[in-house]
Amino acid sequence: MLGLLAILFMAAAAAAPYPDRPGKKTVEKICGACHGLKLMEPMRRTRAAWQTSIDDMLTRGMKAEESEIEEAVNYFARYFSRLNINKATAAEIADVLDLPAPQAEALVRYREKNGPIPNYDALEKVPGLDAKKLSEQRDRIAFRQAAF
Ligand code: HEC
Repeated sequence: MLGLLAILFMAAAAAAPYPDRPGKKTVEKICGACHGLKLMEPMRRTRAAWQTSIDDMLTRGMKAEESEIEEAVNYFARYFSRLNINKATAAEIADVLDLPAPQAEALVRYREKNGPIPNYDALEKVPGLDAKKLSEQRDRIAFRQAAF
């Protein structure tokens, strides 16, 4: 019974939309007040888009210190992120898509040599890239230059 509970607990933790990482307490404090956290669960946005949304909450009456806003933007940019694979730096790609640095660097080198990567299939051609891991994060990857 305890074993089963432990497994259920671990499964719930793995699927937790709000990972227990720095910034979570701040997000709970400053975003939970009006609409709760569920609203943002399915959202995937770029850092710039999160910055805009969160700044907009100030006009709706959100009370937060500047440092708390920065923490919240960092948290959403990291865990509720969408990034343009043709614009992001290797460090951003590694961080947001949780890729080893050499793979992120290989991706940037490939992009510099061959031009913008047009779609997911093209991503699979990048040598050494773990395409399976990326396929699990499709909703986090954008390709179009115009997207942001
Ligand atoms: C003072 C109340 C308040 C607080 C605090 C607040 N919001 Fe909002 N938020 C609103 C209101 C009001 C709306 C509009 C709801 C609607 O359009 O139905 C909204 C809508 C949103 C939306 C959907 C609109 C959009 O920009 O796409 C997002 C995302 C959002 N909030 C994120 C956040 C985040 C992240 C935080 C914490 C950093 C936060 N909110 C804190 C009041 C608040």
